[in-house]
Amino acid sequence: PFMSLLAIAIAYLLGSIPFAILSSHLFGLADPRSYGSGNPGATNVLRSGNKAAALMTLVGDGFKGWLAVWLAIEYMAPPWTMAGVCLAVFLGHLFPVFLGFKGGKGVATALGVLLGISVWLGLATMLTWLIVAYFFRMSSAAAMASALFAPFYYVLASGMVWQAQGPVTFAISAMSLILIYRHHANLSRIIKGTEPKIGKKSAAEK
Ligand code: G3P
Repeated sequence: PFMSLLAIAIAYLLGSIPFAILSSHLFGLADPRSYGSGNPGATNVLRSGNKAAALMTLVGDGFKGWLAVWLAIEYMAPPWTMAGVCLAVFLGHLFPVFLGFKGGKGVATALGVLLGISVWLGLATMLTWLIVAYFFRMSSAAAMASALFAPFYYVLASGMVWQAQGPVTFAISAMSLILIYRHHANLSRIIKGTEPKIGKKSAAEK
């Protein structure tokens, strides 16, 4: 139990590292919490117009999710610890100790977690994101759709590609539900037709 708690604590701290804030600082940009959606995430950093900073946010926030899972696999964590690590790194991003517990929506970090669990699971989810983003041009819609599909990808491929583990299924499902809930403001903007398209500062700016 001590090792499990330690792994979960490390995952939470990793998840708490806010790459949106770090990369914005590095590139001399304004704090992403002060403009756009106010969300410290890659999508909002892109609204600054700086693609490199947005990419660094995406890769950094994704990498920490991947790293937490990779470490858990490396140290042969049992299934429930693995599930705890997945959720802890994700929740670290949403409620980071370094930002007064006010973090992001967890899209990049969840993707990193899925890639850590299985490259195929990560790629399938990423492809879902790309397809929805291509047609609707909204990062939030793509994220919610991908989150909806991810648990099914994991469960459906089990037996064929890998053995699904109950705790991991639980972790992915919980992560998806929380991720979708975290997008409630985006969802109401989508319904109202005011959700900005990717890279645009607001819906009004064409
Ligand atoms: O990464 C979060 C994305 O799905 C939505 O971000 O800034 O449009 O609320 P944002």
